[in-house]
Amino acid sequence: MDKEVAVERWRDSHWVNKMTVRLDFSHVMSDFVGENRGIVQGEVDELIPKALAIAGSIEAKREAGEWGFCQLPYDMEAADRVLQMSSFLQGKCDDFVVLGIGGSALGGIALFRALCHPLYNLLPRSNRGRTPRVFFLDNIDPGTFKSVLDLIHLERTVFSVVTKSGSTAETVSQFLVIRQMLMERIGKESVKEHFVVTTGSKQERLRALAEEEGYYLLSIPENVGGRFSVLSPVGLFPAAMSGIDILELLAGARYMDERCRTNQLWQNPAYLGGALHYLADVRKGLNIVVMMPYSDALIQVAYWFRQLWAESLGKAKTTSGEVVNVGQTPVVALGATDQHSQLQLYLEGPFNKLITFLLVGKSGETMPIPPQLEQREELSYLGGHSLEELMKVEAQATQLALLKAGRSNMSLILPEINPFTMGQLLFLLEVQTVFASGLYDINPMDQPGVEASKHYIYGMMGRSGFEDKAREVKEWQKEKRRYVI
Ligand code: PA5
Repeated sequence: MDKEVAVERWRDSHWVNKMTVRLDFSHVMSDFVGENRGIVQGEVDELIPKALAIAGSIEAKREAGEWGFCQLPYDMEAADRVLQMSSFLQGKCDDFVVLGIGGSALGGIALFRALCHPLYNLLPRSNRGRTPRVFFLDNIDPGTFKSVLDLIHLERTVFSVVTKSGSTAETVSQFLVIRQMLMERIGKESVKEHFVVTTGSKQERLRALAEEEGYYLLSIPENVGGRFSVLSPVGLFPAAMSGIDILELLAGARYMDERCRTNQLWQNPAYLGGALHYLADVRKGLNIVVMMPYSDALIQVAYWFRQLWAESLGKAKTTSGEVVNVGQTPVVALGATDQHSQLQLYLEGPFNKLITFLLVGKSGETMPIPPQLEQREELSYLGGHSLEELMKVEAQATQLALLKAGRSNMSLILPEINPFTMGQLLFLLEVQTVFASGLYDINPMDQPGVEASKHYIYGMMGRSGFEDKAREVKEWQKEKRRYVI
C-alpha cells in the first residue's frame, strides 16, 4: 500500500474505530476485584496533578528531540529508505538473517511472529511472494548459529547487522564470523552485497567500517534507545523484508499517538495503563506483571514488552539520585497453554501479580470442530464449536476465575491482528512505559546495569580500555568457591 492510501485509510474514521485497540481495566478496580487489592478511583484521581506534569515533560522531551521514539511514526524518510532497500534486496536473496540482540532484535521478532505466517520459513517460496526466509539470531549459542548456517546458502543470503552502539560483543562476533566466511566463499569484493548494517547515525565504529567496505547502511537516530526502536529501521527493515506493510504499522502508531497525547489521565490508555501498574505495585504489592496473550501470534510481543518494562523501569536511583531500587518483574505466559502450567499459581499463590491479557477479537482462522460421536456426551459437546471459540471461552474462564479469586487483571484488546493494530499496541506500550517512569521518577532510557556487564565482557575478551575490568574478573575467578557441592 502506498503512503497516500495508508494515510487516507487512517482518516476513514469508521474503519479506524473498528480497528481501535482498547484497554479494559475493569478487573483491577476495587468494585470488581475487592477493596483489598483493587484500585479505587480516588487513588487514580490523586495521580492527576502528577500525570499533568508528566504529560508536560513528555511533550517537552518530544519537542526538544530527547525522546526520539515519539517521532518515529512520522519518519517517512526512514520508511521510504527501508522500503527501497527491502524491495531491492528481496529478489536478490533466498534467506535473510538478522544479527542483533536485546532491543536490536526483539521488536523485529515480535512483528515477524505477529504478522507473518506462523510457519513462514516452511512455506514454499511461491506462497511467500518475493520475500526470503527470515531468521533472527539474537543469541550467540554456537549450536543455534551453526544450525542456521547449515540451512542457508551464503551466496544467496543477506545478513542484517543491527547494533546501535556498533560495539555489542554478541552482535559484532556474529558479524565477524559471517564476514570471514563470506570472504572465503565469495571473495572480499562481493562481501558488501551481503551485509546491511543498521547502526547509530553518529557512532563511529561499525558505521565507519560499513562505509569503508561499502555495505548497505540504515540509521538508528541517536535519540532512539534500543528497546524503543521497533518503529525505526531496526524493526521496520526486517518487517519490510518479510512483506509486512510498514506504512500501515506506522499509521497505527500515529493513530495511537493521537490517542495518547491527551493529558487527561482517565482518557489516555497508555497513561492509565502506566498509572494502574504503578498503583498496583506501590499501593497493592503487585510487583510481578504477567503478560499473557491468548494468541500464539502475540507471544513475542510479550517478550518484547518484558524487555521494555524490565530495562526501562528496573532502576536503582531516581532522577535526583535517591536510591529506590524500583521495578516490577515482567513475566511471559501464554493462553491457553499456561493455564495448564502457571494458572494454579496465579489463582492461589501470593497476591503479587498483575496480569495483562492480550486478546484478539477476530482471529484469522476459526477451525470448526465437526459434530460427531453423539453417543459419547463427554466428547461430543465440543462438536459444532470451533478452536477460535474455545480459545475465547478459555480466556473468559481464566478472567472470571481470577476475578473470583480476587486477582487483578486487565486486557488489551486487538479487534484483529494486522499492521495497523500492531502499530497501536507497540506504541501504546512504549508510552505506558515512559509514563510509568515519570511516576517512579526514574530515567527510562538508560541501562547502567546492562552496561556494567558489557564492560566485564569487553575486559575478558581483551578489548583495550577495559584492562581494569579484566583484572577484576581475574581476581574474582581466583576466589575459592566455598559452597559448591
Ligand atoms: O534496549 C537497549 O538499549 C538494549 O537492550 C540494547 O538494544 C542491546 O543491549 C543491544 O545494544 P546494541 O544495539 O548497541 O547492540
